[in-house]
Amino acid sequence: MHIPSLIEKKRDGGRLEDAEIAQLIAAYSSGEVPDYQMSAFAMAVFFSGMSDGETSALTAAMRDSGRVFRWPEGSPPKVDKHSTGGIGDKVSLILAPLLACDSLWVPMVSGRGLGITGGTLDKLESIPGFDIHLDEPACLRQIEKIGVFMAGQTEDFCPADKRLYALRDVTATVPSRPLIIASIMSKKLAESLDRLVLDVKFGSGAFMKTRSDAELLAAGLASAGWGNGVRTSFLLSPMDEPLGRAVGNALEVREAVETLQGHGPDDLVAITLDLAAAVSDSPRDVLARRLRDGTAWEKFLALVEAQGGDPQAFEDWDQFHPAPVVRPFAAPHDGTIASMDAGRIGAAAVQLGAGRHKSGDAINPAVGFSQIRKTGERISKGEPLLRIHAASEADADAAARALDIKVG
Ligand code: URA
Repeated sequence: MHIPSLIEKKRDGGRLEDAEIAQLIAAYSSGEVPDYQMSAFAMAVFFSGMSDGETSALTAAMRDSGRVFRWPEGSPPKVDKHSTGGIGDKVSLILAPLLACDSLWVPMVSGRGLGITGGTLDKLESIPGFDIHLDEPACLRQIEKIGVFMAGQTEDFCPADKRLYALRDVTATVPSRPLIIASIMSKKLAESLDRLVLDVKFGSGAFMKTRSDAELLAAGLASAGWGNGVRTSFLLSPMDEPLGRAVGNALEVREAVETLQGHGPDDLVAITLDLAAAVSDSPRDVLARRLRDGTAWEKFLALVEAQGGDPQAFEDWDQFHPAPVVRPFAAPHDGTIASMDAGRIGAAAVQLGAGRHKSGDAINPAVGFSQIRKTGERISKGEPLLRIHAASEADADAAARALDIKVG
């Protein structure tokens, strides 16, 4: 394969054959194609785009760059969901055990926080003892026993994506729809799923700022899923205010636990049920009952125990991650909450230490926001719009200055 000709073809708007894409990614993975050629290719894709067929082929090639889960013959349907990321999005913690109450398998491979959006692995790691590092045999043993695992990527899981994502990050080619689609879907397809539901978010706290951009991304993601044999559906959901009433790792785990115990905030319960119903064999009302009657909570405890976590921790959760400073952020006058900016709340949470500025940074599980009021709610002067959990008074002051919540 002559790489410059392939780059030239894409640069000039040509359509690549599936085999050309597969060879390029294989050669990139083996080190035959250097980063400078791959950078040029990524920029050519950025400007010329890719057809659905090319995107699907790129997705499959990236999936096949590493290990792909192999499930035993005749095992139950494998299902999962992916969210493009939002503020306060703790749905996975609730949805994975909820789905595993059916005879379905939920092989959930998750990521860490990215930019202002939190990550499932960081939330799980606030549970004392919880181990997200499972190898494939451990994943298989656990899923055979309880129908679910929640783990991080191993080194040999989609390595081409890992390298290409780092390259895109430094060559201004992250915001290319085909490259985003292949990156997200290759990782989900490596789970060898039967069904996948996507939560594609739009708004100030999301990757996609407008509904129309989210629609285009969702259609592309779904097409790459179906193109590779996975029954893929999606939901478009607004992300202008945080999901639920908590943002920050341990604070979100507490809210997920409350939801699994049947006392979740309405918006969080609704979206979890909508997403779960899209891939479950059970109807929405049965799933709702499992959140209310403790069935999903029991499954969550089994999951925590299987991965080395301490289920007793939930008896007195607040003692594990007490923030040194917890203070209310008061409404300036009586009125109705007119708007809030989820993006600014997410950025303020990162600033408090709930997220990272660069990969590898440590995070503080205790910090964030709780008891967040919702747009449209009435509030009196001096009542808290939310509570700030911070490592110091100075951090809490900075967070208070960064928030933008309008009371009309
Ligand atoms: N998330 C990913 O995994 N990849 C992207 O390219 C964007 C978001």
